Amino acid sequence: MSRKKYMLGNWKMNHGLEEIDNFLSDLDSPSSFNCFWGIAPQAIHILRMIKAKKRSPNLKVGSQNCSENDFGAFTGELAVQTLVEAGVDFTLAGHSERRSLYSESDELINAKVIKAQSENLLPVFCLGETLEERDSGKMENVLEGQLLSGLKNVDSKNIVIAYEPVWAIGTGKTATPEQADEAHAFIRKVITEKLDWDANKISILYGGSVKPANVVELLGKENIDGALVGGASLTGASFSALCKAASN
Ligand code: 13P
Repeated sequence: MSRKKYMLGNWKMNHGLEEIDNFLSDLDSPSSFNCFWGIAPQAIHILRMIKAKKRSPNLKVGSQNCSENDFGAFTGELAVQTLVEAGVDFTLAGHSERRSLYSESDELINAKVIKAQSENLLPVFCLGETLEERDSGKMENVLEGQLLSGLKNVDSKNIVIAYEPVWAIGTGKTATPEQADEAHAFIRKVITEKLDWDANKISILYGGSVKPANVVELLGKENIDGALVGGASLTGASFSALCKAASN
């Protein structure tokens, strides 16, 4: 079964206006990218990226985070309604840096996913195990726990899943294509058996040190439908190479 391919860049807390301009002018033939491709910049630059849709109408713009609440007294938060009104296409939820550095719980992430879906904003639900969890044989338990709590009462129709093993993020250590494919197959099994979802219809992206040199092999695996990329999404040239690989 062929699912849509995705290439998403998570810029994390990087890039000012000058770097963004350089990124946009260095994109190589973006009109030829034949996949769902987009960037989640720092929140303050979301509107700048949306402006870039004028030249690259297929560019999707994401938020790295969103609030689980409606409008109100939540200093520093980003309302889903505001993101949608601005023209944002997707939001990350449950990135491992939010889980570990900002103590986001499975329950909070679940509430964010549900809130995003309620406003038709595509949630990209992230999960992954630490090295210690993998080495001690707990990977499957951890992933299953994150899936069952994070996707409770979630609609399977408007969601993308991103498997990002924590030990592969920003470390240069990529999961082998076999390791990633195996984890994705396990995720498909859990969402089929425990959530009763049609896993064949769910796109699962891999994240963790993806770069032009390893992307083709990763995307060649049956269960890998795209990538969520940090470092290698920061320059237009490198991100273009990734988008082209996802377009073949
Ligand atoms: P790197 O591609 O820099 O390893 O980051 C992965 C990531 O965290 C994307 O969300």
